[in-house]
Amino acid sequence: MQILAIESSCDETAAAVVADGRRIRSNVVASQSELHAETGGVVPEVAARAHLRVLIPVVRQALRDAECDWDDLDAIAATAGPGLPGALLVGLNAARGVAFARGLPFIPVDHIEGHVLANWLDVEPPPLPALALVVSGGHTELLLMTEDGTFERLGGTRDDAAGEAFDKVARLLGLGYPGGPVVSKLALEARERSLRLPRAWLSGSDDFSFSGLKTAVLRMVQSDEAPPAAEVAWAFEESVADVLSKKAVRVAEREGVASLLVAGGVAANRRIRALVRERSSVPVFIPPPELCTDNAAMIGAAAAVHPELAVGPETAIDINPMPYRSRARRSG
Ligand code: KG4
Ligand code: ZN
Repeated sequence: MQILAIESSCDETAAAVVADGRRIRSNVVASQSELHAETGGVVPEVAARAHLRVLIPVVRQALRDAECDWDDLDAIAATAGPGLPGALLVGLNAARGVAFARGLPFIPVDHIEGHVLANWLDVEPPPLPALALVVSGGHTELLLMTEDGTFERLGGTRDDAAGEAFDKVARLLGLGYPGGPVVSKLALEARERSLRLPRAWLSGSDDFSFSGLKTAVLRMVQSDEAPPAAEVAWAFEESVADVLSKKAVRVAEREGVASLLVAGGVAANRRIRALVRERSSVPVFIPPPELCTDNAAMIGAAAAVHPELAVGPETAIDINPMPYRSRARRSG
């Protein structure tokens, strides 16, 4: 079973060929980060136009890398949401067009589920039930994944997503976009490592909050005795990594899960990866960094577990830009 998957929900145009939902045959990602560096963030219309320009070459490259012909494919998948509407439309409609032309089923995929399923690519599958911490530019979610693969949302951010906080702090420090990698790199240069920024524990709930931390950074960099940017970056990363790892580990232990999964662009963060691994008493699964940030292989992995969502050309299907939380599947 081979799936061609397309991802275009934000600022990466990606296509991949995935076999049996587990093996990556090819995985091509065209990042728009240089395009968005000028504005310090993604401009939706600019992103959508860039997807239009590069999508077809990216799909062709994915087929070439996989040494795969159209006839070797069993289904076409694409991210249906959540994401930027204009950006989603490009990938979804291209995928629908190809599926129609080739007479193949089309499988719409939830982007968040894709991030989680990246943990199934090219490795031994994690044992279920699992707790998934999904941390990206748009999401910070704690999801309980039951044995049948369905999700129950336990909590998430009440304001900024973890990646959004990294991106905003990068802007405050005059660094580039995306903020995560540059803030993390600068943090390594901190000579003094004693600065402390607040942590929002929101005790008694499985939610997160990062807007207070962002405001604390703003005050700090605007103060007369502003510490060096590297020290601020270090203290900020420590605060985010401390809260994310401690809460995820605590919830995983409380729920008695068999594994703890971390996923999404922010899961590429060195400090977060280390702290979760250090603190967890349950087995931890985190995809390699290139499978944490947006890619299409994860969309292929998620499509493979949802053959029941496959539709033919006669079925109308639309993007679903809304976040996962508004339509979380509740078990029990
Ligand atoms: O999953 P992703 O590629 O796109 C979304 O679905 O949002 O996540 C992108 C986010 C950005 O906010 C970026 O700053 C953050 O992931 N990110 C990181 C790192 N690499 C990417 N954050 C912290 N440390 C990193 N190394
Ligand atoms: Zn993502």
